[in-house]
Amino acid sequence: MTERREPYLLTPGPLTTSATTKAAMLRDWGSRDAAFIAMNARVRERLVDLAGGRGSHVCVPLQGSGTFIVEAMIGTLVPPAGKLLVLVNGAYGRRMVRICEVARRAVATLEAAEDAAVDPAALDAALAADPAITHVAVVQCETTSGVWNPVEAVAEVTARCGRRLLVDAMSAFGALPLDAGRVRYDALVASSNKCLEGVPGVGFAIVRQTALEAAAGRAPSLSLDLHDQWAVMEKTQQWRFTPPTHVVAALDRALDEHAAEGGVAGRGARYRESCRILVAGLRALGFRTLLPDALQAPIIVTVHMPADPRFQFDVFYRELAARGFVIYPGKLTVADSFRIGCIGRVGAAEMRGVLAAIGEILDEMQVTDRGPAAGRGHGGERRVDT
Ligand SMILES: Cc1ncc(COP(=O)(O)O)c(C=O)c1O
Repeated sequence: MTERREPYLLTPGPLTTSATTKAAMLRDWGSRDAAFIAMNARVRERLVDLAGGRGSHVCVPLQGSGTFIVEAMIGTLVPPAGKLLVLVNGAYGRRMVRICEVARRAVATLEAAEDAAVDPAALDAALAADPAITHVAVVQCETTSGVWNPVEAVAEVTARCGRRLLVDAMSAFGALPLDAGRVRYDALVASSNKCLEGVPGVGFAIVRQTALEAAAGRAPSLSLDLHDQWAVMEKTQQWRFTPPTHVVAALDRALDEHAAEGGVAGRGARYRESCRILVAGLRALGFRTLLPDALQAPIIVTVHMPADPRFQFDVFYRELAARGFVIYPGKLTVADSFRIGCIGRVGAAEMRGVLAAIGEILDEMQVTDRGPAAGRGHGGERRVDT
């Protein structure tokens, strides 16, 4: 992790990738080229294996950013007469609600605070109260705050109540475990970027084959129809529309590197160590992080904006970028915050590097009071809807 040049992206994505993953894109592939077809099939199989879904689930890749595959999952799997209950504790849960509204699918929400996990007991009660609900959706790591939602418990309640589960695992897949053999879900979606450390441009769904087979002709969109994408790919081995060949090639290479690191366990261990160093270092510098350790996923850390009037986020951001570290504004609706990611091709050295840079900049800015203002944490505002 020392091949350095451009800034480290300590964000929720796009992320820092290895030089070898980028180099895998230095070739043009024809979409009907036998080598590309073999690579595409290999990537799909490896993703099913990573999800623990062999024999029950299939992988359907789709062009686009993460939102495209979330929208495709909901539109394809929730039938027009169905109803989705979305567990909301941040912007990505809210986005699923918006997707339902646009696709004209009936939707209900069960909300938790942005600094809390979703509540399986409340889900149990909500499902008992509304028999019209056919599906439940949950975000594994709500990247808005970095909170780790209890998907296993949510899956247990959903299955016991005879409903079907859809998981947005965008910022978790490849680093946080979610084995389809143990945790019952109909579909999970994630992307080439994020914890797999490929480049952005492809999303994929890991879908229970029987649920997908039942979904023919349901999607309210042609390009976001996962059944059609799957059926054509099974029949012809090809993508329906121009495939993002270079992105698939980079993902194939990124999956090699994921396996070499020890798979989900190995990648998760690096991220956990990075997160531990980052949180401890930020607290030692006097910052207050949003989440208690028990709720913090080792993906991205939300930090309360310091109360000191000498702290100006724009200056802080610019000075950090000048030192080679790109961070991210906050996305909370309830508190003024910023975020620092610990995913991508970065590790302990980069976490120590960014902490040292932050310490230097705070000294230069003469920021002494680094905690949030008393009573703050609710009502402050900084919202960036990306
Ligand atoms: C949990 C989650 N879901 C969905 C998305 C949407 O992905 P995109 O911004 O690539 O459309 C993101 C992006 O960070 C995410 O973290």
